[in-house]
Amino acid sequence: MGYVLGLDLGTSSLKGLLVNQSGELVYSASADYPLLSPKVGYSEQDPAVWFEAALTVLEKVVTEVADAKEQLEAISFSGQMHSLVLLDENDQVLRNAILWNDVRTTKQCEEIKSVLQDRLIEITQNKALEGFTLPKILWVKEEEPELFAKANLFLLPKDYLGFCLTGSKQMEYSDAAGTLLLDSKQKEWSKEILSAFGLLESLCPPLVESAAKIGILKGELLERFGFQQDIHVYAGGADNAAAALGAGIVSPEMGMVSIGTSGVFLAFEEPGKEYGGDLHYFYHVLPNTFYSMGVTLAAGHSLSWFKDTFAKEEDFNHLLASIDEIPAGSEGLLFLPYISGERTPYTDSQIRGSFLGMDTRHRRDHFARAVLEGITFSLKDSQQLMEKHANKTFTKIVSVGGGAKNPAWLQMQADIFNTTIVTLQTEQGPGMGAVMLAALGQGWFDSVEECVATFVKEAKTFEPSPDQVVAYQKVYDVYRQGYEATKAISHQLLQL
Ligand code: XUL
Repeated sequence: MGYVLGLDLGTSSLKGLLVNQSGELVYSASADYPLLSPKVGYSEQDPAVWFEAALTVLEKVVTEVADAKEQLEAISFSGQMHSLVLLDENDQVLRNAILWNDVRTTKQCEEIKSVLQDRLIEITQNKALEGFTLPKILWVKEEEPELFAKANLFLLPKDYLGFCLTGSKQMEYSDAAGTLLLDSKQKEWSKEILSAFGLLESLCPPLVESAAKIGILKGELLERFGFQQDIHVYAGGADNAAAALGAGIVSPEMGMVSIGTSGVFLAFEEPGKEYGGDLHYFYHVLPNTFYSMGVTLAAGHSLSWFKDTFAKEEDFNHLLASIDEIPAGSEGLLFLPYISGERTPYTDSQIRGSFLGMDTRHRRDHFARAVLEGITFSLKDSQQLMEKHANKTFTKIVSVGGGAKNPAWLQMQADIFNTTIVTLQTEQGPGMGAVMLAALGQGWFDSVEECVATFVKEAKTFEPSPDQVVAYQKVYDVYRQGYEATKAISHQLLQL
């Protein structure tokens, strides 16, 4: 039976998933690489480590899986978004990649806003954020002009890896959408934005669909790993889009909530929606579809911070064991999860977290429950933007990541989102989307729905409980006032 391999190029490691035609995970392997931080706020990586990691994973696949050499048919990718790789005219990497979580580009974001004004959102449907690619390109242009003069092409991480494996250079739409250079309505690089900043269109690679074939694995690699047949390579997708495909988010009434260090609330969108930059709005990995996405910067991070600070010796299960004995709303204790600032809906790097309403009744379990409620309310802010401002209705939200591990938290999500929550049997994150793109590219399935039915299996369902929904709505109405009420104090405390 044939295999496909999904390579997820993450921020700290590259993970490979080998899956067969029945959708079963046959083998997985990963290889770590370092994150470089030469100055505060800088986050970089040497692109060579991604290729090395991919070679390590391929080596493990052919060593550990007896028939992989004969049965591997195709490879595709998912990858960290926005991170800038610059190549010279000989396709040599010019400097370390500047990553999505690097925040050196505040000045360039201000320039983009002042030069493009409303046109930025009209063209790209997104705000200028430090993490996105255009501000990074402008930073290199301003701060490293001699190096920039040699720049011939930019790529994003997984596209660079695709180039290393096939020799072919391109970018697919789900990642291109996060560069602030894509005209999202025309589906082409924006000449207006490029010329506003004196950038040549030739700096941008050709655009392709996510399941487009970009080539075959280079002959020297076929030989190195002993593959007996051509390995077809497909473009792949941005990690969030690929994770959404891997969770089966392929129709408008479906959402996904993913709680890792940060938290994401994501919804499938058909063309024609306008969020005016209030949410991220990017191409999905299926042709001519989109997704909207809100980000809570400190989601799982708020919980791990709380545990490390107040219950260092305990594990999470113990810390959360009694939270369902505490009623919804934690008896008047509210947590605002802004410990690292907040992205959606406030885009405020200077807001900070708070516990509000503490009184003598409150024990540690109240605080633990309030932390989970605060994180979930913050994600509901993104859901509200979709429901209230764009008339979206969700019939089902797939919960993945750390937030899907605790049944009490899953029930809380159903009650706070007032929507059915489902978990997945095997959760493989963005790499599963990469696998599915390779399978779709290979024509294993007649439709996306058939592909999803084969690869994505639901596990448990949590239904909203009407009295809890009402109780949480009251608490959420108070939570909504928390940002404005604490903003000035937060900002002042940072200046002290
Ligand atoms: C999305 C974003 C992150 C990265 C992480 O806008 O910045 O989710 O894609 O890899």
